[in-house]
Amino acid sequence: MIFDLHEQREAWALDPTVHHCNHGSYGAVPSVVREMQRAVQDQVQQNPVRFFAREAQDRVAAARAQIAAFLGQQPEQIALVRNATEAASTTLRGFPFQRGDEAIVLDQEYGAVVYAVQRALASAGGVLREVAIPMDDDAAHIVAAVEAAINSRTRLLVVDHITSATARILPVQQLADLCRSKGIAIAVDASHAPGQIDLDLDRLDADFWFGNLHKWVCAPLGSAVYRIAPRWQARMRPLIVSWRDVEGYPAPWDMLGTVDVSAWLAAPAAIDFFNRIGWQRLRAANQERMRYGREMVLAALGLSKDILPPDAIAMGLVPLPHMEGGRAACAALQKRLGEVYRVESAITTCAGAYYLRVCGQLYNSAADYEALASAISTELRG
Ligand SMILES: Cc1ncc(COP(=O)(O)O)c(C=O)c1O
Repeated sequence: MIFDLHEQREAWALDPTVHHCNHGSYGAVPSVVREMQRAVQDQVQQNPVRFFAREAQDRVAAARAQIAAFLGQQPEQIALVRNATEAASTTLRGFPFQRGDEAIVLDQEYGAVVYAVQRALASAGGVLREVAIPMDDDAAHIVAAVEAAINSRTRLLVVDHITSATARILPVQQLADLCRSKGIAIAVDASHAPGQIDLDLDRLDADFWFGNLHKWVCAPLGSAVYRIAPRWQARMRPLIVSWRDVEGYPAPWDMLGTVDVSAWLAAPAAIDFFNRIGWQRLRAANQERMRYGREMVLAALGLSKDILPPDAIAMGLVPLPHMEGGRAACAALQKRLGEVYRVESAITTCAGAYYLRVCGQLYNSAADYEALASAISTELRG
């Protein structure tokens, strides 16, 4: 089986003795983008004073403008941050919860982001409501379940656009419309969205939106976008206070002391890399790989390919029978697959169920998924 764009495999410098089937967790950076990042770091070291005192801010603004254009935004509509975790923490640290206020998360929300919500509510004396979303719930049911959880004390909904553990696209536009109609804020955790799906951030008009570029845009680690709706911009401030703190959004985020900004400056090279291929073709090629891998693992485990049909993204699920032990058990199985079989994968758990999440990226070949299927069936079935 030869996938479309197989010749691009050489664009990454991944360890060839490992089968890399988990692009979703940490991404992977093409060599041409790494070279761009190294070139920026070299320029910094040739004259750190010139770079930071006279060049860095213009160059960050230029990179932000290119990233904004990629997302269909104006430069001043987005801030650059290091990752989704930072944007989530900033949102929750700045959100004006008061005693008795409530926030809603779905049971498929990313755990670290839920911790940020919990911490903010704990210090304000607020209450967290978790809404269970069965795996076969459609968009209408999800919206109805959230609506049923909203009451007069609800202030904020935090929701993934694409879930991590369960690889689902959630109906964030309908949820944003619902929140607006109820007068509550919505924070959309779009960590996996940039590069994977079409986005219309103006129409979505989330109060807070954040997405990683280091996942499906394959930008260097530490590049992410934090969009704050104009109605919140005066209130929301970076977690770190630095020289541009007195300016309006998004300037304070451009300058957080002396830090390595090479990831942001090299992120446009990743956008260019995929622009040359074409995003629609890239997505189709990645999904083709994921579907092949998912079906191969399902077959190896004796499961029907109709179980948990994947959404139109490059991540799909295989349910894992007979597992228990929570996140520690997931980590242990993931480690065994990685270290014994040299197959990197994502083993996830949500609402008491366990999954293998299969990803597709241009560096994957059929052999990667054959190795994954063989490894997981040997582990689970002997
Ligand atoms: C849905 C979701 N939110 C947040 C994150 C955190 O991303 P980061 O570690 O880049 O901050 C992830 C990472 O996988 C994620 O999948």
